[in-house]
Amino acid sequence: MVDLLLGLQWGDEGKGKIVDVLTSNYDIIARFQGGPNAGHTLEFDGNKHVLHTIPSGIFHENAKNVVGNGVVIDPVIFAKELEKLAPYGMNLADKLLISRKAHLILPTHRLLDAASEAAKGSKKIGSTLKGIGPTYMDKTGRNGIRVGDLEFSDWKDRYRQLADKHLQMIENYHVALDFDLDSLEKEFFAAVEVLTSLPLIDSEQYFAEAQKQGKKILAEGAQGSLLDIDFGTYPFVTSSNTTAAGACTGLGIAPNKIENVIGIFKAYATRVGSGPFPTELFDNDGETLGRVGNEFGATTGRARRCGWIDLVALKYAITINGVTELNMMKADVLSGFEQIKVCTHYEYNGEKIAHLPFDIDAKYVKPIYETLEGWQEDLTGIKSTNELPNALNHYIEYLEKHLEVPITVVSVGPDRTQTLFRKA
Ligand code: GDP
Ligand code: IMO
Ligand code: MG
Repeated sequence: MVDLLLGLQWGDEGKGKIVDVLTSNYDIIARFQGGPNAGHTLEFDGNKHVLHTIPSGIFHENAKNVVGNGVVIDPVIFAKELEKLAPYGMNLADKLLISRKAHLILPTHRLLDAASEAAKGSKKIGSTLKGIGPTYMDKTGRNGIRVGDLEFSDWKDRYRQLADKHLQMIENYHVALDFDLDSLEKEFFAAVEVLTSLPLIDSEQYFAEAQKQGKKILAEGAQGSLLDIDFGTYPFVTSSNTTAAGACTGLGIAPNKIENVIGIFKAYATRVGSGPFPTELFDNDGETLGRVGNEFGATTGRARRCGWIDLVALKYAITINGVTELNMMKADVLSGFEQIKVCTHYEYNGEKIAHLPFDIDAKYVKPIYETLEGWQEDLTGIKSTNELPNALNHYIEYLEKHLEVPITVVSVGPDRTQTLFRKA
């Protein structure tokens, strides 16, 4: 049995928190796409952890955590993540498994990312500069180096050829980049040793066997549906399929094996990096959401852009992913607003529309809002859905009616314990 958990907005919905909360119901947690551009935050026992490549089930004693073939791995960042886990005395060789078919991010992929962004100037994507785009380009261009290649003695020759090609490409960008390749490579080769000290597996076979044995698998998405390479706000997207289909190709799991698709969204909206965001706020309300929600990127520390919830975009994401249940995060951040706005339609070419058009740039699209009553109560200490303020219950029911999918979790704070389950 396989369930998926996916972000429905522009990432940072709170996937890490919920995967950690749900892990006790599963045997295996698996990342299927993205790489260290992701920053998934978990909080429990007064500690905060940010994971980039490692699945968010890692803190649970019995769960296996798999980095699937669709993920791109930077050994340097991965080794640093492992170092941060060292104080917890986990037997990682028993619970963290890496797909041989996952592609490697080389130091020169990171440099290419920086060169590409610098060359775009004001049209830059706002990439996290982790080398994600260039690594997926080498994957689809059939030049990439995979984790499994590290088990063969000639991999360093292939590495050299590819890195040299990248250096030529960087020159062609004609931008000033300052780097010391020797030290980057030294760090990279040392980190590769750390990576290969973990079990490398043929993960598609591992999942097939696990399913035969009746194990329960939760696939953990990274980024969000509106950053999907096909369905997101292209070109301001990431370079992988962040939507449900990506879990099939990124793990080797057949579509008919997927049961529940859990779609996760913030009670408002945020975006980090460039690109269209119809409900973005540039006023005090936007500033309040950012401040109260502590909206700073978990990977880059950049301030996230904030705005009201966008039901047009959410419905689109729900449809593409086949979402069966919704989790609403950060409800506590909306406490204190007199009124809360909900975007139900767009004005597009003078018409009122309810679907996402080809381009949602502010030049073409204006949000149309309905206004709901806010609530003043602090939610962060609430332990049961019976204690929720009426106005919040009304907000939840309003969203359920428009989205036509039940909201099964309401999150009222970053900690594991600040998670309220609702009956479907
Ligand atoms: P992810 O990338 O989807 O895992 O999300 P991030 O970790 O990048 O961003 C979510 C942020 O919101 C993190 O700092 C979480 O600790 C925090 N968070 C998650 N759920 C809640 C919530 O219900 N309320 C508040 N106030 N913070 C939350
Ligand atoms: P999690 O998993 C939010 C954004 C970047 C940029 C665009 C492309 O934590 O939700 P990339 O580095 O992939 O080339 O950047 O995508 N982005 C994210 N935004 N959360 C993420 O991951 C993101 N990963 C990438 O800001 O706009
Ligand atoms: Mg994040």
